[in-house]
Amino acid sequence: MLYQFALFTNTSLIIMSKILAFSGSSRKGSFNQQLVRIAARGAQVLGSEVTIINLGNYPMPIFCQDYENEHGMPAKAAEFKQLLLENDGFLIASPEYNSSFSALLKNALDWASRATTPDEIPLSAFQGKFATLMAASPGNLGGLRGLVSLRMLLGNMGVTLAPSQIAIAKAYAAFEQGKLVDEFKHHEVSELGANLHLLLEKFNDNSNN
Ligand SMILES: Cc1cc2nc3c(=O)[nH]c(=O)nc-3n(C[C@H](O)[C@H](O)[C@H](O)COP(=O)(O)O)c2cc1C
Repeated sequence: MLYQFALFTNTSLIIMSKILAFSGSSRKGSFNQQLVRIAARGAQVLGSEVTIINLGNYPMPIFCQDYENEHGMPAKAAEFKQLLLENDGFLIASPEYNSSFSALLKNALDWASRATTPDEIPLSAFQGKFATLMAASPGNLGGLRGLVSLRMLLGNMGVTLAPSQIAIAKAYAAFEQGKLVDEFKHHEVSELGANLHLLLEKFNDNSNN
C-alpha cells in the first residue's frame, strides 16, 4: 500500500508522493549524502514530500538472529523501518566499499526486512516501493560496481528500481558546497529525483483510476 497525502485545490485533487532519501554513509562530509540531497531537491521542486535522513542517526547492532530472538528489533531499526513503510519511494546513494555497497546500508536493510508481528506481510517495508540509486567515490568508476549488487538486492526484496542511475567519479573534485561543480552532472542528478517523482505520480494516477 502506498502512503499518500492528498491536497484539494479549486479544480483538482493533487496526490503528493512521499520519498525517503538516505545514503549508505554516516561519514561527516559524505559525498553520497551530498549526492542524495541534490536528487532530493529535484523531487521536492516537483512536489514530492521528501524526508532526508542520515543513517548515522539510526545506530543499530549488526544483525544477529540470537540478538533478535532475545531483544526484538532495536528501537532505531524500528524507526528506520517505519520510515520505509511511510514512504512510496526511496532515493539511495551508497559508497562502494571493496566493490560492494556499504555494510551500514546492508545492516539497516536487513533489520528493516524483519517482521515484528506474526501476521506481518514479509518484506512489507519494501514490497511495492520504487527506488532510484546513485553513488559517488574518489575512484574512476564512481562506485558503480556497488550499485550492481544493491540493485539486485532491492529488486529481490520487492522494490521496483528506476532504470536510470548515476555514479559520480573522482568525488574529491566533483563537489563544492553541496553542489556538483559540473553543472550538467548536477542537473542530471537533480533529474534523477525528478524522475522518481514522475514515476510515483504515474503509478499513483494508474492506481487511482
Ligand atoms: C574499506 C573501504 C573500501 C573502499 N573500497 C572502495 C571501492 O571498492 N571502490 C571505490 O570506488 N572506492 C572505495 N573506497 C573509497 C570510498 O569510495 C570513499 O571513502 C568514499 O568517500 C566513501 O563515500 P562517502 O564519501 O559517502 O563516505 C573504499 C573506502 C573504504 C574505507
